[in-house]
Amino acid sequence: MGYQNIIEEIADTVKSLFGQGKVADYIPALAKVPPNKLGIAIETIGGLSFCTGDAEEQFSIQSISKVIALAMAYPKVGEQLWERVGIEPSGNPFNSLVQLEYERGIPRNPFINAGALVITDLLIEHFPQPKNDLLQLTRQLAQSDDIYYDYKVAASERELGYTNAALVNFMKSHYNIKAPVENVLDVYFHQCSLAMSCRELARAFLMFANHGIIPHSGERILTESQAKRLNALMLTCGFYDEAGEFAFRVGLPGKSGVGGGIVAVIPGELAIAVWSPELNEHGNSLVGIKVLELFTTLTGKSIF
Ligand code: DON
Repeated sequence: MGYQNIIEEIADTVKSLFGQGKVADYIPALAKVPPNKLGIAIETIGGLSFCTGDAEEQFSIQSISKVIALAMAYPKVGEQLWERVGIEPSGNPFNSLVQLEYERGIPRNPFINAGALVITDLLIEHFPQPKNDLLQLTRQLAQSDDIYYDYKVAASERELGYTNAALVNFMKSHYNIKAPVENVLDVYFHQCSLAMSCRELARAFLMFANHGIIPHSGERILTESQAKRLNALMLTCGFYDEAGEFAFRVGLPGKSGVGGGIVAVIPGELAIAVWSPELNEHGNSLVGIKVLELFTTLTGKSIF
């Protein structure tokens, strides 16, 4: 069976799970998103596209943006980056504060909120226009000028962003944040508000599947080693305290966001993006994980 038939069959199967999760409501603008959306898109390195359902509709990519921010910071900062943020799974929820205190302000990894906020701080330090540069990189990776910052989502998150503000303040007290707190939060909330479709996300993540090179343009963004490392971090830390379960059930590097998006890659072959807004208790798309589990089961493909 081809990919198109497989994703259509999966979409039919997983609809029975609608209603079992809950749309994120701690960011008020996200609480308004219709819960039963479902999009799936596959882009291959060879240039083939497959999609079904709401795969062309743009949604808030939230934490998926943390991978793009890291891909922007890492080549610029180099290995010194790992002095400011670790590379171990945290085993804690994405917005947890507790580990930071006994690990003296050095976040476990770049995908929990604390780690992503440090990466944002590095973007501010190393890029003259971090917000604009990040948007341009995302558009370049996805080959789409339609990608935008959803200012309403960014403002809505800022209004109730007390936990992220606490994380930045705490890390600043440990000298692990250089820029003003408000500045870091502003860039971070905009980064999280990036609006993209499944098709755009799958295309953007082909660079990670293609060892650091954007397949459609041939441009190199990461070295092979950097791309390997970012894929390894997605596998071990991309789903927070559910990273083990995702690796167990799906077997691919990937990243989730509280907007209900998940993107995963099969290195050397393709990227697949899913959007379904209802989340499980870990803040990851409940239906999205099922879609990817069925995909690797039905195709027999995973990195293992
Ligand atoms: O900082 C936050 O809480 C959100 N902007 C992003 C969190 C997120 O997407 C967690 N992922 N599942």
